Amino acid sequence: MDIKKIKHLKGTLSVPGDKSISHRAVMFGALANGTTKISGFLKGADCLSTIQCFRQMGIDIEEDQSDLLVHGKGLHGLSAPDATLNAGNSGTTTRLISGILAGQDFSCTLTGDSSIQSRPMNRIMRPLLAMGGDITSLKGNGCAPLAIHGKPLHAIDYFSPVSSAQVKSCILLAGMYAEGTTSVTEPVLSRNHTEIMLQYFGANIACSHNTASISPEPHLEAREILVPGDISSAAYFIAAGLLTPNSEILLKNVGINPTRSGLLHVCKNMGADITLLNTNMEGEATADILIRTSSLHGTTISGEIIPSLIDEIPMIAVMAAFADGTTVIKDAQELRVKESDRISVVTENLRRMGADVIPTEDGMIINGGKPLHGAVIDSHLDHRIAMSFAVAGTICDGFLSINGGECVNISYPEFYHDLYFLSK
Ligand code: S3P
Repeated sequence: MDIKKIKHLKGTLSVPGDKSISHRAVMFGALANGTTKISGFLKGADCLSTIQCFRQMGIDIEEDQSDLLVHGKGLHGLSAPDATLNAGNSGTTTRLISGILAGQDFSCTLTGDSSIQSRPMNRIMRPLLAMGGDITSLKGNGCAPLAIHGKPLHAIDYFSPVSSAQVKSCILLAGMYAEGTTSVTEPVLSRNHTEIMLQYFGANIACSHNTASISPEPHLEAREILVPGDISSAAYFIAAGLLTPNSEILLKNVGINPTRSGLLHVCKNMGADITLLNTNMEGEATADILIRTSSLHGTTISGEIIPSLIDEIPMIAVMAAFADGTTVIKDAQELRVKESDRISVVTENLRRMGADVIPTEDGMIINGGKPLHGAVIDSHLDHRIAMSFAVAGTICDGFLSINGGECVNISYPEFYHDLYFLSK
């Protein structure tokens, strides 16, 4: 994918629906009684993998223009798939579905692409085994493919070593099938879309500080879901709007759930001119985000804020390379087990552009403000790497090209179109 330089960005954009919320809407809709209507569903490859898995388990899902209709069959309505379930590139599909599958009365295997087959699944296997589940890594390496034999489960109180919404959600979903009340406590609260949406569907779920608990056998009722714009997709336009000269863009109806919106705080700390308009804090909070060209400076990002911006760090690192001064990113070792090792891949690609970046075990030190030039970027088929460096390519001097740039279809199929649409 070849990236052209952009002179300015102007106009209004609605980014596609939130990926995390879209996955959950399909999953919980399938386990609810009645038809769940989902508006603003993200039709990216990851969420399509979730749809395919539930279709294979007997759930009728209709695609209607921009809406999705999920004809749920209740908590015990799934049927055994006739073939291996394939989560594609999606960690959310793999880990959340595993929690559901652990409590079924059938067995199946679950796999994914080569990236998924190298990502750690022992983080969900351990708690599921502790609940009485039967889940095995078929290659014995703690990764997919996984064989899951549905079993009667019992509740646990789990203290997760990582702040991961995928781990938390997996356990809470298994908890719906377990005897007793299951709880998950994490070091820092990770994105809480599962808690908010399960409550909305009628589950008995309680949240206090970093702990969520769920009572078994909820009667989930179909609901109407309006998926807000994905702040992780908005991130690329926030960065592009801030870094491109003479720009002013308005991103409509973006999700700003506090467990997801750490990026906005970081941008403010870097000197960004960002205004939130039409803020609505009910349920999944939303706002319109107005972005104007700004002169950015370095900052330190560490500790409790990390889970709320974990997917935005590749974009933040690119912004930091264009900003004046030093940016230090710490406590982000989770980046090493995402779709790619994002610490290594961001470092490698920023260096190709002439940036001064030092990778550390749990983050990066970026000495910003060096003149950045075009380069051939390797996306490692990681959508967030491709989009972060596409933004870099619209600003730097010279020609930038991205190998594997089409992987943006995982979370944002129209990404390149939207980027150039705002530059007209
Ligand atoms: C997600 C949780 C995060 C995030 C991923 C989506 C989710 O992963 O990085 O893109 O939808 O629950 P972890 O739970 O591994 O932190």
